[in-house]
Amino acid sequence: MKALITGITGQDGSYLAEFLIAKGYRVYGVVRRSSTEKYDRIAHIRDRLVLVQADLLDQVSLSQALKEIQPDEIYNLGAQSFVPTSWAQPVLTAEFTGTGVTRMLEAIRSDCPQARFYQASSSEMFGMVRETPQNEKTPFYPRSPYGVAKVYGHHITVNYRESYRLFAVSGILFNHESPRRGLEFVTRKITDAVARIKLGLADELKLGNLDAKRDWGFAGDYVKAMWMMLQQDKPQDYVISTGIAHSVREFAEIAFGFVGLDYKKYVKLDSELLRPAEVDHLLGDSSKARSELGWRPEVGFREMIEMMVEADLQRYSYGKLMDENRYSETKTKALSS
Ligand code: NAP
Ligand code: GDD
Repeated sequence: MKALITGITGQDGSYLAEFLIAKGYRVYGVVRRSSTEKYDRIAHIRDRLVLVQADLLDQVSLSQALKEIQPDEIYNLGAQSFVPTSWAQPVLTAEFTGTGVTRMLEAIRSDCPQARFYQASSSEMFGMVRETPQNEKTPFYPRSPYGVAKVYGHHITVNYRESYRLFAVSGILFNHESPRRGLEFVTRKITDAVARIKLGLADELKLGNLDAKRDWGFAGDYVKAMWMMLQQDKPQDYVISTGIAHSVREFAEIAFGFVGLDYKKYVKLDSELLRPAEVDHLLGDSSKARSELGWRPEVGFREMIEMMVEADLQRYSYGKLMDENRYSETKTKALSS
Protein backbone atom coordinates (compact mmCIF):
# COMPACT_ATOMS: atom_id res chain seq x y z
CA MET A 1 0.00 0.00 0.00
CA LYS A 2 1.18 3.51 -0.84
CA ALA A 3 0.19 6.55 1.23
CA LEU A 4 0.86 10.19 0.46
CA ILE A 5 0.86 12.72 3.32
CA THR A 6 0.80 16.51 2.95
CA GLY A 7 2.07 18.26 6.08
CA ILE A 8 4.50 15.41 6.84
CA THR A 9 6.94 17.83 8.51
CA GLY A 10 4.24 18.86 11.01
CA GLN A 11 3.23 17.30 14.32
CA ASP A 12 0.52 14.98 12.95
CA GLY A 13 2.35 14.17 9.73
CA SER A 14 5.31 12.78 11.65
CA TYR A 15 3.16 10.55 13.90
CA LEU A 16 1.05 9.36 10.97
CA ALA A 17 4.14 8.52 8.91
CA GLU A 18 5.53 6.43 11.81
CA PHE A 19 2.19 4.65 12.18
CA LEU A 20 1.86 3.84 8.46
CA ILE A 21 5.48 2.70 8.12
CA ALA A 22 4.88 0.29 11.02
CA LYS A 23 1.86 -1.05 9.10
CA GLY A 24 4.07 -1.78 6.08
CA TYR A 25 3.02 1.17 3.90
CA ARG A 26 5.36 2.88 1.50
CA VAL A 27 5.03 6.48 2.69
CA TYR A 28 5.44 9.54 0.43
CA GLY A 29 5.64 12.94 2.10
CA VAL A 30 4.91 16.25 0.41
CA VAL A 31 7.43 18.94 1.35
CA ARG A 32 7.56 22.50 0.09
CA ARG A 33 10.72 24.09 -1.11
CA SER A 34 12.51 26.17 1.49
CA SER A 35 16.00 27.69 1.67
CA THR A 36 16.68 25.62 4.79
CA GLU A 37 15.25 22.15 5.42
CA LYS A 38 13.06 21.84 8.54
CA TYR A 39 12.75 18.09 8.88
CA ASP A 40 13.40 17.73 12.65
CA ARG A 41 10.18 15.85 13.34
CA ILE A 42 10.86 13.22 10.65
CA ALA A 43 14.66 13.02 10.96
CA HIS A 44 14.42 9.62 12.73
CA ILE A 45 12.39 8.05 9.86
CA ARG A 46 13.84 9.99 6.96
CA ASP A 47 15.46 6.94 5.36
CA ARG A 48 12.11 5.13 5.35
CA LEU A 49 10.22 7.92 3.57
CA VAL A 50 10.12 9.23 0.04
CA LEU A 51 9.90 13.03 0.07
CA VAL A 52 8.37 14.79 -2.95
CA GLN A 53 8.37 18.53 -3.57
CA ALA A 54 4.90 19.98 -4.07
CA ASP A 55 2.78 22.78 -2.63
CA LEU A 56 -0.91 23.11 -1.82
CA LEU A 57 -0.76 26.45 -3.65
CA ASP A 58 0.42 24.82 -6.86
CA GLN A 59 -2.02 22.64 -8.82
CA VAL A 60 0.59 21.37 -11.28
CA SER A 61 2.89 20.08 -8.54
CA LEU A 62 0.04 18.18 -6.84
CA SER A 63 -1.15 16.60 -10.10
CA GLN A 64 2.38 15.61 -11.04
CA ALA A 65 2.97 13.96 -7.64
CA LEU A 66 -0.28 11.96 -7.81
CA LYS A 67 0.26 10.93 -11.43
CA GLU A 68 3.69 9.54 -10.62
CA ILE A 69 2.99 7.94 -7.25
CA GLN A 70 -0.59 6.67 -7.72
CA PRO A 71 -1.13 6.45 -3.93
CA ASP A 72 -3.85 4.24 -2.44
CA GLU A 73 -4.44 6.71 0.40
CA ILE A 74 -3.94 10.48 0.63
CA TYR A 75 -3.87 12.33 3.96
CA ASN A 76 -4.21 16.10 3.55
CA LEU A 77 -2.68 17.48 6.77
CA GLY A 78 -0.89 20.47 5.21
CA ALA A 79 -2.29 23.82 6.36
CA GLN A 80 -1.52 27.18 7.94
CA SER A 81 -2.66 25.81 11.29
CA PHE A 82 -1.99 28.55 13.85
CA VAL A 83 -5.20 30.48 14.61
CA PRO A 84 -3.66 33.93 15.49
CA THR A 85 -1.66 33.94 12.22
CA SER A 86 -4.92 33.57 10.34
CA TRP A 87 -5.90 37.13 11.34
CA ALA A 88 -2.51 38.44 10.23
CA GLN A 89 -2.55 36.43 6.96
CA PRO A 90 -6.22 35.75 6.18
CA VAL A 91 -5.85 35.40 2.41
CA LEU A 92 -2.85 33.08 2.59
CA THR A 93 -4.65 31.00 5.22
CA ALA A 94 -7.66 30.69 2.90
CA GLU A 95 -5.35 29.57 0.08
CA PHE A 96 -3.39 26.96 2.11
CA THR A 97 -6.11 25.72 4.41
CA GLY A 98 -9.22 26.20 2.26
CA THR A 99 -8.63 26.33 -1.50
CA GLY A 100 -5.64 23.98 -1.15
CA VAL A 101 -8.16 21.22 -0.40
CA THR A 102 -9.93 21.82 -3.72
CA ARG A 103 -6.61 21.72 -5.55
CA MET A 104 -5.86 18.35 -4.00
CA LEU A 105 -9.36 17.01 -4.74
CA GLU A 106 -9.10 18.17 -8.36
CA ALA A 107 -5.73 16.43 -8.68
CA ILE A 108 -7.30 13.24 -7.29
CA ARG A 109 -10.28 13.50 -9.64
CA SER A 110 -8.10 13.80 -12.71
CA ASP A 111 -5.01 11.75 -11.77
CA CYS A 112 -5.96 8.99 -9.29
CA PRO A 113 -9.72 8.89 -8.64
CA GLN A 114 -9.46 5.48 -6.96
CA ALA A 115 -7.39 6.88 -4.06
CA ARG A 116 -8.98 7.27 -0.63
CA PHE A 117 -8.75 10.83 0.72
CA TYR A 118 -8.59 12.10 4.32
CA GLN A 119 -9.15 15.82 5.03
CA ALA A 120 -7.89 17.28 8.34
CA SER A 121 -10.96 19.18 9.53
CA SER A 122 -11.05 20.85 12.93
CA SER A 123 -13.14 21.47 16.03
CA GLU A 124 -12.28 25.14 15.43
CA MET A 125 -15.16 24.99 12.88
CA PHE A 126 -17.62 24.82 15.82
CA GLY A 127 -16.24 28.14 17.15
CA MET A 128 -19.07 29.84 19.02
CA VAL A 129 -20.63 26.51 19.77
CA ARG A 130 -24.29 25.88 18.95
CA GLU A 131 -24.55 22.94 21.36
CA THR A 132 -22.40 21.05 23.89
CA PRO A 133 -20.92 18.54 23.33
CA GLN A 134 -20.31 18.89 19.58
CA ASN A 135 -20.88 15.96 17.20
CA GLU A 136 -20.93 15.36 13.42
CA LYS A 137 -24.34 17.07 13.12
CA THR A 138 -23.56 20.21 15.16
CA PRO A 139 -23.78 23.35 12.97
CA PHE A 140 -20.54 25.28 12.39
CA TYR A 141 -19.91 28.85 13.61
CA PRO A 142 -16.21 29.57 12.94
CA ARG A 143 -14.58 32.43 14.88
CA SER A 144 -11.33 32.96 12.94
CA PRO A 145 -10.20 33.12 9.31
CA TYR A 146 -8.58 29.72 10.01
CA GLY A 147 -11.93 28.29 11.16
CA VAL A 148 -13.67 29.73 8.09
CA ALA A 149 -11.06 28.18 5.78
CA LYS A 150 -11.48 24.79 7.50
CA VAL A 151 -15.27 24.97 7.05
CA TYR A 152 -14.68 25.49 3.33
CA GLY A 153 -12.23 22.54 3.25
CA HIS A 154 -14.79 20.38 5.06
CA HIS A 155 -17.70 21.21 2.77
CA ILE A 156 -15.69 20.85 -0.44
CA THR A 157 -14.60 17.39 0.70
CA VAL A 158 -18.22 16.38 1.30
CA ASN A 159 -19.20 17.94 -2.01
CA TYR A 160 -16.57 16.07 -4.06
CA ARG A 161 -17.63 12.84 -2.36
CA GLU A 162 -21.24 13.47 -3.36
CA SER A 163 -20.54 14.97 -6.81
CA TYR A 164 -17.86 12.59 -8.07
CA ARG A 165 -18.25 9.56 -5.77
CA LEU A 166 -14.71 9.92 -4.46
CA PHE A 167 -13.83 8.05 -1.27
CA ALA A 168 -13.28 11.32 0.59
CA VAL A 169 -13.71 11.72 4.36
CA SER A 170 -13.32 14.55 6.79
CA GLY A 171 -12.05 13.93 10.32
CA ILE A 172 -13.22 16.64 12.72
CA LEU A 173 -10.40 16.44 15.23
CA PHE A 174 -10.39 18.29 18.53
CA ASN A 175 -7.08 19.71 19.84
CA HIS A 176 -4.32 17.14 20.10
CA GLU A 177 -0.85 17.70 21.46
CA SER A 178 2.50 16.00 21.99
CA PRO A 179 6.17 16.77 22.59
CA ARG A 180 6.27 17.53 18.82
CA ARG A 181 3.64 20.28 19.04
CA GLY A 182 4.71 23.66 17.61
CA LEU A 183 6.08 26.01 20.30
CA GLU A 184 3.47 28.70 19.59
CA PHE A 185 0.46 26.56 20.63
CA VAL A 186 -0.56 27.10 24.24
CA THR A 187 0.18 23.58 25.56
CA ARG A 188 3.71 23.41 24.23
CA LYS A 189 4.31 27.07 25.10
CA ILE A 190 3.50 26.14 28.70
CA THR A 191 5.55 22.91 28.89
CA ASP A 192 8.51 24.59 27.22
CA ALA A 193 8.35 27.47 29.72
CA VAL A 194 8.01 25.08 32.67
CA ALA A 195 11.24 23.36 31.60
CA ARG A 196 13.10 26.65 31.13
CA ILE A 197 11.86 28.05 34.46
CA LYS A 198 12.74 24.84 36.30
CA LEU A 199 16.26 24.90 34.87
CA GLY A 200 16.75 28.58 35.70
CA LEU A 201 16.68 29.68 32.05
CA ALA A 202 13.55 31.87 32.39
CA ASP A 203 11.50 33.38 35.18
CA GLU A 204 8.03 34.03 33.78
CA LEU A 205 5.47 32.92 31.19
CA LYS A 206 3.12 35.34 29.42
CA LEU A 207 -0.29 33.93 28.49
CA GLY A 208 -3.61 35.26 27.19
CA ASN A 209 -7.01 33.79 28.06
CA LEU A 210 -6.53 31.30 30.92
CA ASP A 211 -10.23 30.46 31.03
CA ALA A 212 -10.48 29.05 27.49
CA LYS A 213 -11.40 25.36 27.58
CA ARG A 214 -10.31 22.70 25.13
CA ASP A 215 -10.88 18.96 24.72
CA TRP A 216 -7.19 17.99 24.55
CA GLY A 217 -5.95 14.57 23.44
CA PHE A 218 -2.65 12.99 22.41
CA ALA A 219 -1.63 13.32 18.73
CA GLY A 220 -0.30 9.73 18.57
CA ASP A 221 -3.80 8.43 19.37
CA TYR A 222 -5.51 10.76 16.88
CA VAL A 223 -3.52 9.77 13.77
CA LYS A 224 -4.75 6.18 14.23
CA ALA A 225 -8.31 7.46 13.82
CA MET A 226 -7.35 9.05 10.46
CA TRP A 227 -6.22 5.68 9.14
CA MET A 228 -9.26 3.87 10.57
CA MET A 229 -11.59 6.25 8.69
CA LEU A 230 -10.00 5.22 5.37
CA GLN A 231 -10.42 1.48 6.10
CA GLN A 232 -14.25 1.65 6.28
CA ASP A 233 -16.59 0.33 3.58
CA LYS A 234 -18.31 3.71 3.19
CA PRO A 235 -16.72 7.19 3.29
CA GLN A 236 -18.10 9.11 6.28
CA ASP A 237 -17.07 12.00 8.55
CA TYR A 238 -16.16 11.48 12.21
CA VAL A 239 -15.56 13.61 15.30
CA ILE A 240 -12.42 12.59 17.24
CA SER A 241 -12.14 13.81 20.84
CA THR A 242 -11.64 12.64 24.41
CA GLY A 243 -15.00 13.95 25.70
CA ILE A 244 -13.35 15.86 28.56
CA ALA A 245 -12.52 19.58 28.51
CA HIS A 246 -9.98 21.44 30.65
CA SER A 247 -9.04 25.11 30.91
CA VAL A 248 -5.67 26.61 29.97
CA ARG A 249 -5.34 27.41 33.70
CA GLU A 250 -5.75 23.72 34.64
CA PHE A 251 -3.16 22.76 32.03
CA ALA A 252 -0.68 25.28 33.50
CA GLU A 253 -1.41 24.17 37.06
CA ILE A 254 -0.63 20.51 36.25
CA ALA A 255 2.45 21.29 34.13
CA PHE A 256 4.05 23.55 36.78
CA GLY A 257 2.91 21.24 39.57
CA PHE A 258 4.67 18.29 37.93
CA VAL A 259 8.06 19.94 38.62
CA GLY A 260 7.02 21.21 42.06
CA LEU A 261 6.24 24.81 41.03
CA ASP A 262 3.16 26.97 41.58
CA TYR A 263 1.97 28.40 38.23
CA LYS A 264 0.54 31.50 39.96
CA LYS A 265 4.07 32.71 40.73
CA TYR A 266 5.21 32.58 37.11
CA VAL A 267 2.25 33.09 34.77
CA LYS A 268 1.65 36.73 33.77
CA LEU A 269 -1.38 37.83 31.83
CA ASP A 270 -0.65 39.63 28.57
CA SER A 271 -3.63 41.30 26.90
CA GLU A 272 -1.72 41.31 23.57
CA LEU A 273 -2.27 37.53 23.50
CA LEU A 274 -6.07 37.80 23.62
CA ARG A 275 -7.75 37.02 20.28
CA PRO A 276 -10.09 39.35 18.31
CA ALA A 277 -12.76 36.63 18.60
CA GLU A 278 -12.28 33.75 21.02
CA VAL A 279 -13.47 30.16 21.03
CA ASP A 280 -14.34 29.76 24.71
CA HIS A 281 -15.19 26.12 25.17
CA LEU A 282 -14.86 23.07 22.93
CA LEU A 283 -16.02 19.63 23.97
CA GLY A 284 -16.38 16.75 21.53
CA ASP A 285 -18.74 13.80 21.38
CA SER A 286 -16.85 11.03 19.55
CA SER A 287 -19.38 8.26 20.18
CA LYS A 288 -19.79 7.60 16.42
CA ALA A 289 -16.03 6.98 16.02
CA ARG A 290 -15.97 4.85 19.15
CA SER A 291 -18.82 2.60 18.03
CA GLU A 292 -18.15 2.44 14.25
CA LEU A 293 -14.34 2.63 14.11
CA GLY A 294 -13.61 1.07 17.50
CA TRP A 295 -11.35 4.06 18.20
CA ARG A 296 -10.65 5.41 21.68
CA PRO A 297 -7.99 7.65 23.19
CA GLU A 298 -5.28 5.84 25.16
CA VAL A 299 -3.18 8.62 26.70
CA GLY A 300 -4.89 10.69 29.42
CA PHE A 301 -4.65 14.45 29.99
CA ARG A 302 -2.23 14.40 32.94
CA GLU A 303 -0.08 11.67 31.36
CA MET A 304 0.22 13.72 28.17
CA ILE A 305 1.22 16.89 30.05
CA GLU A 306 3.87 14.99 32.01
CA MET A 307 5.21 13.46 28.79
CA MET A 308 5.50 16.94 27.25
CA VAL A 309 7.18 18.52 30.30
CA GLU A 310 9.62 15.62 30.54
CA ALA A 311 10.54 15.90 26.87
CA ASP A 312 11.15 19.65 27.19
CA LEU A 313 13.19 19.17 30.37
CA GLN A 314 15.34 16.59 28.59
CA ARG A 315 15.79 18.83 25.56
CA TYR A 316 17.00 21.77 27.66
CA SER A 317 19.04 19.65 30.06
CA TYR A 318 20.79 18.07 27.08
CA GLY A 319 21.40 21.54 25.56
CA LYS A 320 22.68 22.77 28.92
CA LEU A 321 24.91 19.73 29.28
CA MET A 322 26.32 20.28 25.80
CA ASP A 323 27.00 23.95 26.68
CA GLU A 324 28.65 22.93 29.95
CA ASN A 325 30.77 20.33 28.10
CA ARG A 326 31.76 22.93 25.54
CA TYR A 327 32.59 25.31 28.39
CA SER A 328 34.69 22.75 30.25
CA GLU A 329 36.42 21.72 27.01
CA THR A 330 37.35 25.36 26.37
CA LYS A 331 38.42 25.74 29.99
CA THR A 332 40.57 22.59 29.80
CA LYS A 333 42.15 23.82 26.57
CA ALA A 334 42.79 27.25 28.07
CA LEU A 335 44.37 25.72 31.18
CA SER A 336 46.58 23.33 29.24
CA SER A 337 47.85 25.91 26.77
P1 NAP B 1 1.43 21.71 11.96
O1 NAP B 1 2.36 21.05 12.92
O2 NAP B 1 1.32 23.18 11.95
O3 NAP B 1 1.88 21.22 10.48
C1 NAP B 1 1.36 21.83 9.32
C2 NAP B 1 2.01 21.21 8.11
O4 NAP B 1 1.47 21.83 6.92
C3 NAP B 1 3.54 21.40 8.03
O5 NAP B 1 4.12 20.19 7.59
C4 NAP B 1 3.68 22.47 6.95
O6 NAP B 1 4.90 22.40 6.24
C5 NAP B 1 2.54 22.09 6.02
N1 NAP B 1 2.16 23.16 5.08
C6 NAP B 1 1.87 24.44 5.38
N2 NAP B 1 1.59 25.10 4.24
C7 NAP B 1 1.72 24.23 3.21
C8 NAP B 1 1.59 24.32 1.79
N3 NAP B 1 1.26 25.48 1.19
N4 NAP B 1 1.81 23.23 1.03
C9 NAP B 1 2.15 22.05 1.62
N5 NAP B 1 2.29 21.90 2.95
C10 NAP B 1 2.08 22.98 3.73
O7 NAP B 1 -0.05 21.11 12.10
P2 NAP B 1 -0.57 19.80 12.87
O8 NAP B 1 -0.84 20.14 14.28
O9 NAP B 1 0.30 18.66 12.53
O10 NAP B 1 -2.00 19.62 12.18
C11 NAP B 1 -2.16 18.85 10.99
C12 NAP B 1 -3.46 19.25 10.31
O11 NAP B 1 -4.55 19.00 11.17
C13 NAP B 1 -3.56 20.73 9.94
O12 NAP B 1 -4.32 20.81 8.75
C14 NAP B 1 -4.36 21.33 11.08
O13 NAP B 1 -5.02 22.51 10.66
C15 NAP B 1 -5.31 20.19 11.39
N6 NAP B 1 -5.79 20.10 12.77
C16 NAP B 1 -4.90 20.09 13.80
C17 NAP B 1 -5.36 19.94 15.10
C18 NAP B 1 -4.42 19.91 16.27
O14 NAP B 1 -4.88 20.08 17.41
N7 NAP B 1 -3.14 19.67 16.06
C19 NAP B 1 -6.75 19.80 15.33
C20 NAP B 1 -7.61 19.79 14.24
C21 NAP B 1 -7.13 19.92 12.96
P3 NAP B 1 6.21 23.28 6.65
O15 NAP B 1 6.97 22.41 7.63
O16 NAP B 1 6.89 23.45 5.34
O17 NAP B 1 5.72 24.55 7.27
N1 GDD C 1 -1.43 29.98 21.37
C1 GDD C 1 -1.74 30.54 22.55
N2 GDD C 1 -0.80 31.29 23.22
N3 GDD C 1 -2.98 30.34 23.04
C2 GDD C 1 -3.27 30.88 24.25
C3 GDD C 1 -2.35 31.64 24.98
C4 GDD C 1 -1.06 31.86 24.43
O1 GDD C 1 -0.20 32.52 25.01
N4 GDD C 1 -2.93 32.02 26.15
C5 GDD C 1 -4.18 31.52 26.14
N5 GDD C 1 -4.40 30.83 24.99
C6 GDD C 1 -5.65 30.18 24.61
C7 GDD C 1 -6.17 30.62 23.24
O2 GDD C 1 -6.82 31.89 23.33
C8 GDD C 1 -7.10 29.47 22.90
O3 GDD C 1 -8.38 29.70 23.46
C9 GDD C 1 -6.47 28.26 23.60
O4 GDD C 1 -5.46 28.79 24.48
C10 GDD C 1 -5.83 27.24 22.66
O5 GDD C 1 -4.97 27.92 21.76
P1 GDD C 1 -3.97 27.14 20.79
O6 GDD C 1 -3.14 26.19 21.55
O7 GDD C 1 -3.26 28.17 19.96
O8 GDD C 1 -4.93 26.22 19.89
P2 GDD C 1 -6.32 26.54 19.15
O9 GDD C 1 -7.39 25.86 19.92
O10 GDD C 1 -6.48 27.97 18.83
O11 GDD C 1 -6.10 25.79 17.75
C11 GDD C 1 -5.56 24.47 17.71
O12 GDD C 1 -6.60 23.53 17.77
C12 GDD C 1 -7.50 23.54 16.66
C13 GDD C 1 -8.56 22.46 16.92
O13 GDD C 1 -9.58 23.01 17.70
C14 GDD C 1 -4.75 24.35 16.41
O14 GDD C 1 -4.04 23.14 16.41
C15 GDD C 1 -5.64 24.36 15.20
O15 GDD C 1 -4.87 24.08 14.03
C16 GDD C 1 -6.71 23.26 15.39
O16 GDD C 1 -7.56 23.19 14.28
